[in-house]
Amino acid sequence: MVNTIIIYNSRGGNTKQVAEKIAEGLGVQSVNQKNIPKNIEDYDFLVLGSWPMMFKISSGGKRWLNKLSKKNLDGKTVALFFTSGGPDEDMPKTDNGQPKKIKEMMFETMENIINKSKNVTILEDRFYCKGAIRMMGKIMENEGHPNEEALEQAKTFGETLKTKFS
Ligand SMILES: Cc1cc2nc3c(=O)[nH]c(=O)nc-3n(C[C@H](O)[C@H](O)[C@H](O)COP(=O)(O)O)c2cc1C
Repeated sequence: MVNTIIIYNSRGGNTKQVAEKIAEGLGVQSVNQKNIPKNIEDYDFLVLGSWPMMFKISSGGKRWLNKLSKKNLDGKTVALFFTSGGPDEDMPKTDNGQPKKIKEMMFETMENIINKSKNVTILEDRFYCKGAIRMMGKIMENEGHPNEEALEQAKTFGETLKTKFS
């Protein structure tokens, strides 16, 4: 039996909603970054989610992923997901000065952080969807996202991971 957990950070609730749907598909629990189990090293399969802010991974996401990468993740399998405001815009700048699409930027950043821990397998199976943009409690853009279709896809993503890896 593969011991699996979903971990995410979410400020407005989009990433949480998606995490919960992936969890439903996988038949496991999802926790936010504040509730990472103390025995995380006993888990074999980690499904990790975050969101971008100002063209970079949210600082909260960067922080907990960095902390996680310092644990002994030897031999573990990782799948990544995120929600964001806009998928297709080019990023105005990145660390090496090259514009990047949001998906490329987010998955690369998350991968690079997790890869600091050696011998982790990061799956090509990954999930992204659009989320409403909330500022000071108000929805500014993408009202209704993640929508039903995206949440159903998130559940299917979880089911696929379950079939393939657990
Ligand atoms: C202050 C702020 C900055 C954001 N910057 C970006 C951004 O640079 N690119 C993007 O695609 N989405 C951006 N977003 C949108 C969020 O990534 C999106 O709403 C995400 O789904 C939020 O996840 P959450 O509800 O789990 O916190 C921003 C949102 C906020 C509130």
